[in-house]
Amino acid sequence: METATSRDTHAAPPKHIAIIMDGNGRWAISRGLPRVAGHQRGADAVRATVRACGELGVDFLTLYAFSSENWKRPADEVQDLMSLLRLYLRRELAELATNGVRLRVIGDRAGLDSDIQDLIREAEEATAKNGGLTLTVALNYGGRNEIVAAVQEIAREVSGGLIEANAITASVIEAHLQTDGIPDPDLLIRTSGEHRLSNFLLWQTAYTELVFTPVLWPDFGRKELEESIREYRRRERRYGGSST
Ligand code: IPE
Ligand code: IPE
Ligand code: MG
Repeated sequence: METATSRDTHAAPPKHIAIIMDGNGRWAISRGLPRVAGHQRGADAVRATVRACGELGVDFLTLYAFSSENWKRPADEVQDLMSLLRLYLRRELAELATNGVRLRVIGDRAGLDSDIQDLIREAEEATAKNGGLTLTVALNYGGRNEIVAAVQEIAREVSGGLIEANAITASVIEAHLQTDGIPDPDLLIRTSGEHRLSNFLLWQTAYTELVFTPVLWPDFGRKELEESIREYRRRERRYGGSST
């Protein structure tokens, strides 16, 4: 106990938290509700988490909202998710702006409906100068697709003579990822008891601390966030070095 306390005071808080928001469907089904009800409550949990991160002084929050694989779901569920996204982008913009939140979207936005692309662009532009929390939302995002796109871009630069193959380093690759300018996540939280990355931030999580909680995403709030941060602060990050 004492060890945990003294480590708590020494470890730096996470600058960047990434969250795989999972369990909306199970939350709804266990209450006899349609899955969309879980997604609606999930949007409330997003609002609470963004506020809490701002208050706790977290610099970067990255949320996995829709994966490149989620198109496999029934068309009506995909439609419900897209409608909620529209609603969120319209309704939350004012609050994000007043709280100094800067919104960024990663993922293949060209695959989204054009009105959603417009809403994203407007929200990014309206919050671009904000200096508070950077909220990155991953939409139609897949970590492998992101790496493939970076490799294609670098290959074009090599064939155009802009860079030599030998000059490709990890930082060159990072600069071609959609998360360019955002530090790697310190802490990744996945809710709902699943223990996998599901194609989220594959490159960026090389040394991220992973925290898994059985809590379903609609039940996640400030208390669960603070618990995850406490767990993170008890960890010792070694990056391949030795601890003694
Ligand atoms: C997360 O909840 C939301 C999205 C993936 C869009 P799920 O809808 O995956 O919920 P479960 O995993 O079926 O409970
Ligand atoms: C991951 O959750 C994607 C999001 C949270 C957006 P999934 O529910 O889609 O993941 P799997 O299918 O259980 O791996
Ligand atoms: Mg799920």
